[in-house]
Amino acid sequence: MTSRFEESIEKHYLCCGPAVEGEVDEAVRKHAPELKETVDRNSYVRNVLKIIREFGDFTLPHSLKVARYCFELGKNLELNPFQLEKFVSAGLVHDLGKVFVSPEILQKNSAMNKSEAEMMHEHVRNSFRLIQEKDPYVAEIIVRHHEGKIDNRYPRSDDRRKNIDASWSGEERRHGERRKNNREIDSLARCLAIIDEFESLTSPDRHYRKPLDMNSAKDQNELREIFQKDYPLPEDEEIVEKLIQINSYLEKHFLQAA
Ligand SMILES: [Fe+2]
Ligand SMILES: [Fe+2]
Repeated sequence: MTSRFEESIEKHYLCCGPAVEGEVDEAVRKHAPELKETVDRNSYVRNVLKIIREFGDFTLPHSLKVARYCFELGKNLELNPFQLEKFVSAGLVHDLGKVFVSPEILQKNSAMNKSEAEMMHEHVRNSFRLIQEKDPYVAEIIVRHHEGKIDNRYPRSDDRRKNIDASWSGEERRHGERRKNNREIDSLARCLAIIDEFESLTSPDRHYRKPLDMNSAKDQNELREIFQKDYPLPEDEEIVEKLIQINSYLEKHFLQAA
């Protein structure tokens, strides 16, 4: 039986040929060489990168940058090789669900109406559903990548998980139970959410917002204020400080070419 993931590949990827594969390899080689082994070892990750590259210009650079932050932060936090690979994979595939959102909505530089916002919010659920078949551990990291923020309009993953539980098979349900109170995954999920927002706030690629420049003390403080409001835990503050340092390293070595 064809899985949702394969169906999605069929719908979004079968049309792309070796040219897209070459573009993905080139983008990884140029902008995120440390991630090459993870991409090579995990064929589904490579397929996701092809899908999002085929879909448009926006999501691939963002995903590579997020994953680069995951790699550097993961090393800094001394994750073991298994955790590091899962964390990096989560960074690479977390926005797969955006292929179901129209480019007009993704590129909109004014406020979204209710139905547009709902469509946008669904990308997390779609990412989760597609990745869950391939790598449940990674799926549990990405399902919360827009949560943690106070006053967040994204549906809570606990609620979402309840809904998904209803349609899960026995094995999937048991897996969900095992993951429910897993602190390791909770911590990686929160780090990914912070990285995702950090990358959005500092990225020059966003058409709707001037990027915060981490070479400027004023912009650094503005960024800290945003995170203090959205992610107020002391450990969140530590992660943000680490990301500011990682940003300056990546700026020098990689991201300026992205
Ligand atoms: Fe997202
Ligand atoms: Fe993202």
